Amino acid sequence: MSKKMSHLDSIPSTPGKFKMEKSAYVHNRLRWHSSLAKLTFWSFMFMGMILIFFFRSPSSNPLPQDPSRRSLRTYNWGGPAWEKRVRSSARIRSRNGISVLVTGAAGFVGTHVSAALKRRGDGVLGLDNFNDYYDPSLKRARQAFLERSGVFIVEGDINDSALLRKLFEVVAFTHVMHLAAQAGVRYAMENPGSYVHSNIAGFVSLLEICKSANPQPAIVWASSSSVYGLNTKVPFSEKDRTDQPASLYAATKKAGEEIAHTYNHIYGLSLTGLRFFTVYGPWGRPDMAYFFFTRDILKGKSIPIFEAANHGTVARDFTYIDDIVKGCLGALDTAEKSTGSGGKKKGPAQLRVYNLGNTWPVPVSDLVSILERLLKVNAKRKLMKLPRNGDVPFTHANISLAQRELGYKPTICRVV
Ligand SMILES: NC(=O)c1ccc[n+]([C@@H]2O[C@H](COP(=O)([O-])OP(=O)(O)OC[C@H]3O[C@@H](n4cnc5c(N)ncnc54)[C@H](O)[C@@H]3O)[C@@H](O)[C@H]2O)c1
Repeated sequence: MSKKMSHLDSIPSTPGKFKMEKSAYVHNRLRWHSSLAKLTFWSFMFMGMILIFFFRSPSSNPLPQDPSRRSLRTYNWGGPAWEKRVRSSARIRSRNGISVLVTGAAGFVGTHVSAALKRRGDGVLGLDNFNDYYDPSLKRARQAFLERSGVFIVEGDINDSALLRKLFEVVAFTHVMHLAAQAGVRYAMENPGSYVHSNIAGFVSLLEICKSANPQPAIVWASSSSVYGLNTKVPFSEKDRTDQPASLYAATKKAGEEIAHTYNHIYGLSLTGLRFFTVYGPWGRPDMAYFFFTRDILKGKSIPIFEAANHGTVARDFTYIDDIVKGCLGALDTAEKSTGSGGKKKGPAQLRVYNLGNTWPVPVSDLVSILERLLKVNAKRKLMKLPRNGDVPFTHANISLAQRELGYKPTICRVV
């Protein structure tokens, strides 16, 4: 301090006409310096806090880095105009029609099922969170298509219990067609949380609302052929084991089947699970092989052709979307009523699981040949061993149960 003072002492006074009294000058000067330092310090603190707040604020970062949280954003819903749209979309317009809440309505299968139900005069209300697992503009285009057919898609997450409760308050749905899910087997290694969020937590959240609804709806939902996992016995039958999933996606679908059993057992909910086998068709999902193979062939990029163990063929039981839609409608039409009401079971209820496949597995190398023929471009094929990333070597459906009980009969038999 004394050193500082002596230093200050040596500073020439303000060049001017008068000289301050020395000690007062030093004192004031020190006070001035310390206030300036304080001011600077607090200004920096304040600026820092603003910056921290700014960078941590959700509104400054609308797409958080963890994609499993993308669908947790809040949505606008409610109000008289919104309720009017909900009611109008769900209104039954045919004799013996049903009123269906379709989750995942902006998705590939959801769009086709919603349109088909609407065409035959059923009441349909969609629900979708429009997440960006793949380009949401495709989901928006499907939404616009459904809008023209009179189907309103409510934007929201199946984990939003308040929204689901509101929907059931506004409409006494007779059925729920539950198609909302995190699809795709390989993406599960990148973002496992999104599978737990949509396929497990979301399913439970939906069932909780359905069980408490009065009347309880009957529920038809999408399981997957992936539950057959590493099974080698073909064709896959509903009676086969499903305890060796090859991906987290498959494991969440298998979990869904067990959860369905529980809600049926405790609350008397009528539940039908449909195990879809590789669905393809217009408005399809861009993450599926026939889409990205086409893109890569046109770009001149090489196509990996996977080989199973011992040079085995990798094949898929590709099923055309129109056949899947017929299977979904068949399941809705044969679903018995749930037996409970307001969360109480009154008697045993229906619990079913069906394969919806094509029974004609197509080797992936044949799929590439078909694309080559249609695109008139030769693919650069790269033979590779099937990696352990969720894919299974082979799928092949036994569909006799669905044929017998749902009247399911695929009409597009071959991918040609
Ligand atoms: N397409 C197939 O080959 C196939 C095969 C087997 C099973 N499945 C199952 O069929 C169903 C439909 O599949 P798809 O091919 O139409 O997939 P998709 O991804 O096109 O459709 C799913 C829709 O659900 C929505 N969604 C996801 N999580 C949600 C959430 N938490 N809340 C609200 N909406 C949510 C998505 O935005 C998407 O629009 C899925 O359950 C899928 O697992 C599909």
